[in-house]
Amino acid sequence: MKHLLFPTVIWQGNRNVTQQEKTDWFNAYLENSNEDGISMDFLGYQSFHKLPQFENIFKDIIINVNNYLDSLSIDKSNLQLYITKSWVNVKTTSGNPEHDHCENHISFTYYPHINEEYSNDLRFYRQGRSTPNEPYFGFLEDIITEWTPDNCKSFAIPISEGDIVVFPANLSHSTEGEDYMESFKTLCALEKSRFCVGGDILITRKTTEKYDKLLPPMDNWLTFNSL
Ligand SMILES: [Fe+2]
Repeated sequence: MKHLLFPTVIWQGNRNVTQQEKTDWFNAYLENSNEDGISMDFLGYQSFHKLPQFENIFKDIIINVNNYLDSLSIDKSNLQLYITKSWVNVKTTSGNPEHDHCENHISFTYYPHINEEYSNDLRFYRQGRSTPNEPYFGFLEDIITEWTPDNCKSFAIPISEGDIVVFPANLSHSTEGEDYMESFKTLCALEKSRFCVGGDILITRKTTEKYDKLLPPMDNWLTFNSL
């Protein structure tokens, strides 16, 4: 009998995407991108969750985040969850190199539009240089007969339109493709893309009643600027 211990939980859900929603995302991109046709969090475009036209979409994303927490048997009654930022990551042939969002607690991706020509997997990586099943780094590299979920160092999840993926923010991930910025200045250009919405979440307690390895509620925080 084989025991699989300490798995990493990644939640993948899906919602139906209407043509109107796609148009809303494309217009939001054009309104929240620079003169070069680029919209990314590092350019300051990181507040898509605040746009009223996407309220119901973020409610669906929150349902999937709750499913992720439920799958870990987490008691949510004392938790306050905050979306700290959300951005759009729109691609054709370019990809995203391996990275994480470790300054947050939970991350999500949502795909309201995928041009099939540019569909791409989302790849996750084991944390740490060697895996728990390697006595030393590189042991498995050349001696295994096949990569499986049990022995792999990375695992690619196929992504479909409407998918919502929830994962630990400190888990490294990537999408295959060249590493360069792409420009989108028209609805037509955006229709040819793979359109991804990314977001990050922070967790605190709801109250200061006790301490249980959670951040205290935000209304207990004091900014240095107020003194
Ligand atoms: Fe990411």
